[in-house]
Amino acid sequence: MSVIIDTDPGIDDAIAILYALGNPDLNVVALTTVAGNIGLSVTTQNAGRICALAQVDVPVHAGAAAPLGKEARPETGIHGKEGLGGVAFPDPIYPVASDDAVAAMIQILTEHPPHSVDLFCLGPLTNLAMLLEQAPDTAHRIRRVIAMGGAVDEPGNVGPKSEFNIVHDPHAAAAVFAAGLSLTLIPLDATRQLRANMDYIDALRDADCAASIASADLIAAYFAATNGAESRPLHDPCVPLFAKHSNMFRIEPRDLDVDIATGALVAGPHRIDVAMGLDADRLRAALLSGLSY
Ligand code: BDR
Ligand code: CA
Repeated sequence: MSVIIDTDPGIDDAIAILYALGNPDLNVVALTTVAGNIGLSVTTQNAGRICALAQVDVPVHAGAAAPLGKEARPETGIHGKEGLGGVAFPDPIYPVASDDAVAAMIQILTEHPPHSVDLFCLGPLTNLAMLLEQAPDTAHRIRRVIAMGGAVDEPGNVGPKSEFNIVHDPHAAAAVFAAGLSLTLIPLDATRQLRANMDYIDALRDADCAASIASADLIAAYFAATNGAESRPLHDPCVPLFAKHSNMFRIEPRDLDVDIATGALVAGPHRIDVAMGLDADRLRAALLSGLSY
């Protein structure tokens, strides 16, 4: 399965990317970056640093520096000034690719047979919305989009009903919902069920691999933003985990739209497959195993 990962790393993005890069069934052909958790230059640099840690030569393409029609709104409180919670990552080995995210998506989707490339969206949906605007037919060559975002029955994490990735660029999310792509949305309703405790961090360290140790450090940094015995939710790892283990998620069709003013998900005309639950124990085990390389 060939995959483009669109991302704003970001602590949980980094864990998701490390998991995907180590998985032989997920052929990651590009990382495309977007402003979100932190500004574009940092998310792009971080994508290259994550590839360097995993020792892979996957091209990194910079994408949108700001949401459609809004200012960027970084979340340095959770992810730190450098976006990776202060965890030490090597410098990128390879320079950022000269073509931007949308150009790269167009080229990859054109070169591959139709419906053979998945798009994992770990951040605001700006790049995908721009692809839909610039090359809608090419966008429809995507096999499926798996996107972390939104809050359906759960409260939001930015506003009462709004989640960061959607509220950061509600125009983009609305365009993606309306596009008729094969879309699985993984909202807070599911991701809040996947957290780590200190024993899990120890198990990652005991695995003694570069990706597992980095993930242990990232989750430990995530604890700094909470007071409890469990980490903040492992939101973005749910995306590649769903690609590999869809049977561990409870999917429900929902008719949804995006309220542009608040970024909340509301009842609407777009039928979307939504992950409303997951098997946390089995997914934690799968994540630990997948990071042990
Ligand atoms: C989402 O927002 C970001 O802070 C995380 O990386 C995740 O993609 C969770 O609301
Ligand atoms: Ca993210």
